Amino acid sequence: MIGVYDSGFGGLSVLRHLHQVLPDRDFVYLGDSGRAPYGGRDIHTILDFSEQAVERLFEEGSRLVIVACHTVSCVALRHLQQRYCGVGSGRRILGVTIPGAEQAVEHSAGHIGILATARTVASGTYLTEIAKLGPHRVLQRAAPLLAPIVEEGLEADPIAELAARHYLAELQGIDTLLLGCTHYPLLIDVLRSLVPRGVTVLDPAPFVAEALLDWLQRHPGFDGGPSEAPSLRVLCTGDPEVFARHGARFLGRPLDRVHHVAEIEGRLAHRAPQDAPTGQVVRP
Ligand code: DGL
Repeated sequence: MIGVYDSGFGGLSVLRHLHQVLPDRDFVYLGDSGRAPYGGRDIHTILDFSEQAVERLFEEGSRLVIVACHTVSCVALRHLQQRYCGVGSGRRILGVTIPGAEQAVEHSAGHIGILATARTVASGTYLTEIAKLGPHRVLQRAAPLLAPIVEEGLEADPIAELAARHYLAELQGIDTLLLGCTHYPLLIDVLRSLVPRGVTVLDPAPFVAEALLDWLQRHPGFDGGPSEAPSLRVLCTGDPEVFARHGARFLGRPLDRVHHVAEIEGRLAHRAPQDAPTGQVVRP
């Protein structure tokens, strides 16, 4: 079983591509939608949340976790790998930044633009990864309004175009635009309509899927192998019904059932869905 982790719904757009290359594998997806967005959070909060998330996915039975979230991949991937994937652990955690950087460099004639969260931009991780591959110029722009616009399902609303136009104004002269956030592929049509002709807008998700396929060929067994009845189990920390409704847009197909997990004493534990209480809530 392959675990996939994101701050919210956005990683389902990555899972969609993972399903395409590995249709016969079992997947478990964890969206931390109750605590998203991550992009403006401080580093230690992201480390705490990501530790809880990967521990949950390991407890669900995964030995391989894909961190679909760019913010977590940029800030916490090395920490997670060192903490959970030591020699003999039998576990692996992979991120999205290296396939993203490789594709941007492959497509670009020399000037790459990146739209991402504030924390991804501040990390400088994409700059580091791209610099390892070539002498490209890179302009980054934090776009904090875009993920909430997508989480609210407003991709087709004029607000999406207005916000995208605002952020793109600072990425003049680029030939390739890398979407450095799981949510932005849902805005790809808007973004393509706004960039100058000749600028390639890149969703890294298909390349993440290809990179995983390649990695599994070199590291067989971590994914649990093919399944006769491939399953998808979905967990979220927010409202499961809202997650199922919005998540279907990201995954490209309906989500039958979403399980609720919540932080209890520093761990993400399964919780029965509650009736939404009104007024004050007193905990026993
Ligand atoms: N998953 C996050 C990312 O790719 C989406 C945005 C957020 O949570 O702030 O960076």
